[in-house]
Amino acid sequence: MLPVVDKPAIQYVVEEAVNVGLHDLLMITGRNKRALEDHFDRVPSLESTLEDKGDTEKLASVQAASKLGDIHYVRQGDPHGLGHAVLRAKQHVGDEAFAVLLGDDLIDARDELLGTMIDVQAETGGSVIALIEVEPSEISAYGCADVQPIDGESYVRVNRLVEKPSVDEAPSNLALIGRYVLHPAVFEVLERTAPGRGDEIQLTDALQELATGDGEGYGVYGVVFRGRRYDTGDKLSYLKACVQLAIDSEDLGPGLREWLPGFTAGLSK
Ligand code: G1P
Repeated sequence: MLPVVDKPAIQYVVEEAVNVGLHDLLMITGRNKRALEDHFDRVPSLESTLEDKGDTEKLASVQAASKLGDIHYVRQGDPHGLGHAVLRAKQHVGDEAFAVLLGDDLIDARDELLGTMIDVQAETGGSVIALIEVEPSEISAYGCADVQPIDGESYVRVNRLVEKPSVDEAPSNLALIGRYVLHPAVFEVLERTAPGRGDEIQLTDALQELATGDGEGYGVYGVVFRGRRYDTGDKLSYLKACVQLAIDSEDLGPGLREWLPGFTAGLSK
């Protein structure tokens, strides 16, 4: 629910899903379920006050959050890791491919990713991960993929995955980011995935089995993303996201652009 410029980070993530045609949304929540539910719900009293005041702009932005899609909620309960959280969606998802979007990761709406991943999943029939190139020293904060190119394709085949390897163990500098389009075969694998790194059930470990094993829905593919991504889970990256998105916005951009150079040069307050 952390605000990024003028809306909570989670709203960017929901909008990203809705923009590629995903309207059935399930949020796996922790303790802040109520704040989330309220945010994406109607607020009749506020709406009628704004209506009476004739503030159509604010009214539209209040209503926008509640018109995004069909949002369902399930609590994770005990936090046993990302794999455990994904497994909580098993009943809701059923037997279809589905997308997982981690709420900390924002993908700039001007850059294409999720739609491409959905296409790759449909073409390959496997599961699809999103990868970015990071500095080798940063890889231990991410899942890491060993990949190989596929002739004539812009996506890659994933040979091996390791969750948060040390610099020495990392098979590459390709890091998993918080977008996945998964075959439902992942649920059966997750059900028997033992706790891994940090004593948590890791989605990366289940995907490693799908990448190397044999069975219906097996096979993992990667889309390398070169666009703008903001990690709101990290303080510096969160601040950068706020500045970058505000600078590009029509109403706040001009004022911020004018003020920022002087401020960073120590010339203005
Ligand atoms: C999770 C995944 C990790 C991935 C990361 C992306 O880690 O386990 O593989 O690289 O998200 O944000 P977390 O950041 O939840 O520790």
